[in-house]
Amino acid sequence: MKDFNFYAPTEVEFGQESEEKVAQLVTKYGGTRVLVHYGGQSAIRSGLLDKVCSQLQSAGIYFEKLGGVVPNPRLSKVHEGIALCRESRLDFILAIGGGSVIDSAKAIGYGVVYDGEVWDFYLGKADATQCVPVGVVLTIPAAGSEMSEASVITNEDGGIKLGYSNNICRPKFAIMNPCRTFTLPPYQTAAGVTDIMMHTMERYFNPDCDMTITDEIAEALMRTMQQSVLEVLKNPEDYRQRAQIMWAGSLAHNDVTGNRNNGDWATHNIEHELSGLFDVTHGAGLAAIWPSWARYVYRQNVSRFVRFAVNVMGVQNDFTDPEATALRGIEAMERFYHQIGMPINIHELIGRNVTDEEIDLMTRKCTLDDTKPQGRFMRLKAADVKAIYQMAK
Ligand code: NZQ
Ligand code: ZN
Repeated sequence: MKDFNFYAPTEVEFGQESEEKVAQLVTKYGGTRVLVHYGGQSAIRSGLLDKVCSQLQSAGIYFEKLGGVVPNPRLSKVHEGIALCRESRLDFILAIGGGSVIDSAKAIGYGVVYDGEVWDFYLGKADATQCVPVGVVLTIPAAGSEMSEASVITNEDGGIKLGYSNNICRPKFAIMNPCRTFTLPPYQTAAGVTDIMMHTMERYFNPDCDMTITDEIAEALMRTMQQSVLEVLKNPEDYRQRAQIMWAGSLAHNDVTGNRNNGDWATHNIEHELSGLFDVTHGAGLAAIWPSWARYVYRQNVSRFVRFAVNVMGVQNDFTDPEATALRGIEAMERFYHQIGMPINIHELIGRNVTDEEIDLMTRKCTLDDTKPQGRFMRLKAADVKAIYQMAK
């Protein structure tokens, strides 16, 4: 068993009354002048933004608002946030939204206290030593950014989507009220669950899978998500199932299902090129790639895929033919994706054929011109990544 460090410092306030705690939590973590950061319309429409602002106001906490974060959050919005925080001497960032708003908040947090260009962190040219504290009011369970150390930003100059990970950006607190997710459209709900399951799958398919407790937690999470999403697609106001999904989103990415086993992450990195280039929903992009990735790599460890097929996808184990069982697990996942309205290839994702030039471009960017292999379950060079894009066409 490998040694590991587990670090999940985020305070979680979960439930229907959780938003009442927002001002108290901001104060607890040192916020006196707050940037309230949010997305497009959903937090305005639901009244959540007003509710949070009036809580801050009643507590005498100064705040300024910056909305307009889009899915696949843009670097230009980050620059805007940095300028506003500096100008108004803001010392805390409150993200109201999902992964995009939270990631934008983290990037602003890095940038405010850094003299150079914040994009340098994402390019790997510099490492952040400070970050303005971030708090979260979560509205969509998906990315897991509310407890993670990651931030993923798109530079619109070239459609370059890059992640940067650093423990110092982990949110101080996350407020999670499952009722706030009742308004999620079916597509976002399904893409969110796909992402949640994939954060666990990326960790589950790794070369050092030797911890039974971690595997069992991971499998329970992946089984539960399949049931929960079908229930909420039938009844969007099913509190119990919305709550399970919301909590699973955090557990799937705060490393409870991985314990620092350095998962695979090839599907994620191959997908990031899709959402960078075509501006698609991250979770849907993962569904379009995973089946092809799985068929390309499963022979590296057939028994792992058999275990996944049987324990997660409910496939009957054909002991005489492990490969057939493994492949039936992948097919079962494809059926599940279709059942919840997710694509299983790029054509279904973007509504047209991806061109060979686009595949070449994504392959080059994903592997940094074949200098950066992807994945750990199987080490993928540029030719492998290209083959996976071709299979996923
Ligand atoms: O902008 P608004 O109007 O709020 O609409 C949003 C957005 O269009 C909508 N939405 C959110 N809450 C809602 C709602 N609509 C109705 N009711 C609600 N309660 O949902 C849409 C998607 O929001 P977004 O924040 O983009 O979703 P998600 O949480 O899936 O975040 C995706 C981003 O996170 C990154 C992805 O790459 C992508 O850029 N990731 C971040 C990670 C991390 N920081 O750890 C890890 C992930 O693997 C992922 O890469
Ligand atoms: Zn993800």
